[in-house]
Amino acid sequence: MDVNFDVKHGLEGVAVAISSISYIDGEKGKLVYRGFEIEDLVENSNFEETSYLIWFGSLPNENELDFIKSMLSKKRELPKKIVKMMKELPKNAHPMDVLRSAVSLLGIYSEKTNSSLENAINLTAKIPTIIAYWYRIKNEMKLIRPREDLNHSENFLYMMFGEVSEKSDIFDKALILHAEQGMNASTFASTVTASTLSDLYSIITTAIGALKGPLHGGANERVLKMFEEIKSIDNVENYIDSLILKGEKIMGFGHRIYKTYDPRARILKNWIKNLFINERIEYFEIALKVEEYVIKKFKNKKIFPNVDFYSGILYNYFRIPSEFFTTIFAMARIVGWTAHAMEYKKNNRIFRPRSIYKGPKGLKYREVKGVEN
Ligand code: ACO
Repeated sequence: MDVNFDVKHGLEGVAVAISSISYIDGEKGKLVYRGFEIEDLVENSNFEETSYLIWFGSLPNENELDFIKSMLSKKRELPKKIVKMMKELPKNAHPMDVLRSAVSLLGIYSEKTNSSLENAINLTAKIPTIIAYWYRIKNEMKLIRPREDLNHSENFLYMMFGEVSEKSDIFDKALILHAEQGMNASTFASTVTASTLSDLYSIITTAIGALKGPLHGGANERVLKMFEEIKSIDNVENYIDSLILKGEKIMGFGHRIYKTYDPRARILKNWIKNLFINERIEYFEIALKVEEYVIKKFKNKKIFPNVDFYSGILYNYFRIPSEFFTTIFAMARIVGWTAHAMEYKKNNRIFRPRSIYKGPKGLKYREVKGVEN
């Protein structure tokens, strides 16, 4: 009987899998990948090495690191037919829509393999190329082919802007921060697709669709829009008050698990603070004021900045347009998504929850009078 089921709205407090990929302590503000604290990894590791750690469960030795680096750098180029199709798309298409569609096309045009790991590496290598190519197609600029001699982040920034950034290591560390985060909305959505034994390209297409929403990864784009609209530090309080009055959420704040400061937001804020010592970082002063005011206003609800609050300021510093912010998130999170899909399939059971029916019952079909078939 339906009445015996309890609805867990938004699945709050429900565990759907046993995982050894990452651990979050929402009260203490800790994030751990495969036993390593995120602070340790961003300080000492790089994106390729952390990807290996997330996929394989332990840090690579020298040969294993060479292997993963070489696989990721050799698989960057896209099939020509996909590039041709991307050139036909309307220039105002949102980068997340383009990414979702191109990943779906990769499921058709990539070499057929049953190895989820090979597919995971293939997607991780190609997503930056999709993003950079779309940026250049949209802006009617000549495409810049990937370079195998550059690391993942250096190559991405090079394909976007045609130069090797001196600060690509900060960008690389931001990718580490975004690579994994337990059973969040997009990971759960993609795990549902994985549980039907669908292929990795379908799984990741699902994940990208879920990440795009403003309550999830799409928040970072909205945060920058908010800073643009606030314009000046003097306008912060009025602006936030007007959002509260309209009952709107403040983008980049709040989290289902973190009931204290999101450790990723803290790390990003500190990096930006250090950059700010030598140069003016756009929107940083406004952000600090917004943070102070929102925390004060929502004292009783324990609402703090999440990862999306400060990430946009950093991407903006790298000249990445706000429309592209969520694609950068996806470029990192592909590692977590694919790791969870592979882990779940080892002990697979299809997801099949229930909904409680509250609609009418016992109705009888009645033909519509006066309508001729
Ligand atoms: N602004 C204002 N109020 C908020 C915010 C916010 N950003 N976040 C939560 N609240 C309030 C809610 O209104 C609710 O209040 P109530 O109890 O009086 O109704 C209470 O705090 C609990 O919030 P929920 O929405 O129930 O929390 P939930 O866990 O369902 O949602 C979420 C979490 C979606 C992140 C939410 O905090 C939110 O919408 N934030 C803004 C969007 C955002 O920044 N998303 C990025 C999240 S991080 C990521 O996905 C990478």
